[in-house]
Amino acid sequence: MKAILCTHFGTADDLELADIAQPQAGPGEAVVRVAAAALNFFDTLIIAGKYQHKPPFPFSPAAELAGTIESVGAGVTELVPGDRVMGYMGWGAAREAVAVPAQQLVKLPDTLDFERASGLTVTYGTTLYALRERAQLKPGETLVVLGASGGTGLAAVELGKLMGARVIACASSDEKLAFAHAHGADEAVNYAAEDLRDALRRLGGEHGIDVVYDPVGGPYAEPAVRSLAWLGRYLVVGFAAGDIPKLPLNLILLRGCDIRGVFWGSWTKREPLAQLTLMTDITRWCADGKLSAHVHAVYPLGEIAAALQAIADRKVMGKIILRP
Ligand SMILES: NC(=O)c1ccc[n+]([C@@H]2O[C@H](COP(=O)([O-])OP(=O)(O)OC[C@H]3O[C@@H](n4cnc5c(N)ncnc54)[C@H](OP(=O)(O)O)[C@@H]3O)[C@@H](O)[C@H]2O)c1
Repeated sequence: MKAILCTHFGTADDLELADIAQPQAGPGEAVVRVAAAALNFFDTLIIAGKYQHKPPFPFSPAAELAGTIESVGAGVTELVPGDRVMGYMGWGAAREAVAVPAQQLVKLPDTLDFERASGLTVTYGTTLYALRERAQLKPGETLVVLGASGGTGLAAVELGKLMGARVIACASSDEKLAFAHAHGADEAVNYAAEDLRDALRRLGGEHGIDVVYDPVGGPYAEPAVRSLAWLGRYLVVGFAAGDIPKLPLNLILLRGCDIRGVFWGSWTKREPLAQLTLMTDITRWCADGKLSAHVHAVYPLGEIAAALQAIADRKVMGKIILRP
């Protein structure tokens, strides 16, 4: 069967399309025939050796997938061959079939297609954990989302609206902001054209911003923290801009605000049952049409280099999917 293999750290052009043996389901595992594998920003880092996880070689990128159960190993009772599932595995999904721990797979409702389902777990899982568990976002609060048209950003716009917040989408182009607006954002800031601090001062008014969701970092973090309300919460989600911001701590003191780290992958290991509940909500909302799980483009497995380049070039709105 075909698999994308990373045999050494490098660029997307160093990835190889190889023939490898079919996987076997070990105890507690299920083999999934992959119908769709979703890419994330961190796939651009993991193949370069710049991510927090450095898998042993050779490995396949792509952390999440959707497909059909082909076989199950000893002890697996909740899944049977033929079941439609989606799941998360950190890396390894860019291949035609893969063995996954059964507890990391969730059955799909009939109305949810494989391509949208494959990209649901990381972005919406991270974001619901961030907004619900870390920020404790309340109805009527103002939520600022940076990088609002990206994978996690779009999830924050949609989940923020679903949780009753007033959502201010921030992104680098009017096209991206129109996209965020079409997915529920109430207001928009083009931070490539307007100073972010001025815009958030105007939109936050005297009260300020209750919650900032930041998957971008770089030059936007400090103006976003300066916009926080008393008891505001700033969610550290990621650093797509490259630079890890350093903040003057007097800003936190003066606003009586919190900086809260969001490490969803670690939380899923510490709280597997809570993660299952969260994914059940997300899957149902997506099947009911309350979340879009928007797919920007679908690439054949062999075109993974172009797919990763689109993410690195900041061109993507929603998700990039691979079809093995
Ligand atoms: N903490 C967690 O548990 C967790 C979970 C998942 C992902 N993450 C992290 O969250 C970040 C975003 O992930 P994602 O999948 O949402 O990425 P994405 O879909 O590629 O979106 C990232 C956004 O960042 C903005 N950006 C600014 N400078 C950029 C640059 N130099 N290159 C690329 N994008 C840039 C872009 O929006 P504009 O053009 O509008 O600025 C882009 O839409 C990543 O750092 C990822 O590792 C963290």
